[in-house]
Amino acid sequence: MQKSVVILFLLFIALSSCQSGQKQKLTEQQKKEYVAKGDSISDFMQGVLLKNVATAKNHGGTEFAIGFCNMNAIPITDSVAALYNVQIQRLSDKNRNPDNAIKTLDDSLAWQKIKNYSSSFFEQQPSGNLVYYKPIKIGMPTCLKCHGSSADIESNTLALINEKYPEDRAVGYSQGELRGMWKIEFNQ
Ligand code: HEC
Repeated sequence: MQKSVVILFLLFIALSSCQSGQKQKLTEQQKKEYVAKGDSISDFMQGVLLKNVATAKNHGGTEFAIGFCNMNAIPITDSVAALYNVQIQRLSDKNRNPDNAIKTLDDSLAWQKIKNYSSSFFEQQPSGNLVYYKPIKIGMPTCLKCHGSSADIESNTLALINEKYPEDRAVGYSQGELRGMWKIEFNQ
């Protein structure tokens, strides 16, 4: 009797230490720090994106669209990600690039929250992953030149988009609408 109690107790200790090794409990202070980091990285990336829109717009016409098609390839995303030791993504339910689709359950739940509350948040997911999400809106009329209705998008731009992204779903938006979300995952 005594012996089995001791064994049970040891087993309990072993199991609980095993679990705490998998998922570290964050303090409120740590959570705040992750939110602050997520805010500054996404603000910076948003700035880069807007600068690219402005540059592309100055070129005008078809070049305008080409400049944007390479958005994901811009080395700055990679260098920012490496600098902060994070992974940066832009996701949407109506994605243009197939890589930007919402695929996992955690991302779908996050998208629901973004749609309902329209504000950024940080969470530790059941898997233990540390992730920050933030809404991306159609914040200026220029966005409509590539994501608006057929009246907003020039025909040569639309042709190029369709050529590069045959499964494009990222059109038909209007000013101020929710377009997608930033996802910043902190490497551990
Ligand atoms: C010149 C055309 C153009 C303009 C202007 C433009 N975009 Fe895009 N956008 C694209 C292309 C092309 C992609 C796909 C990029 C890729 O391959 O990752 C894209 C992708 C995105 C994505 C990632 C999700 C997806 O659909 O793949 C978001 C979010 C987004 N754009 C938001 C915006 C916002 C907000 C603006 C205005 C500030 C804007 N875009 C202006 C062409 C444009």
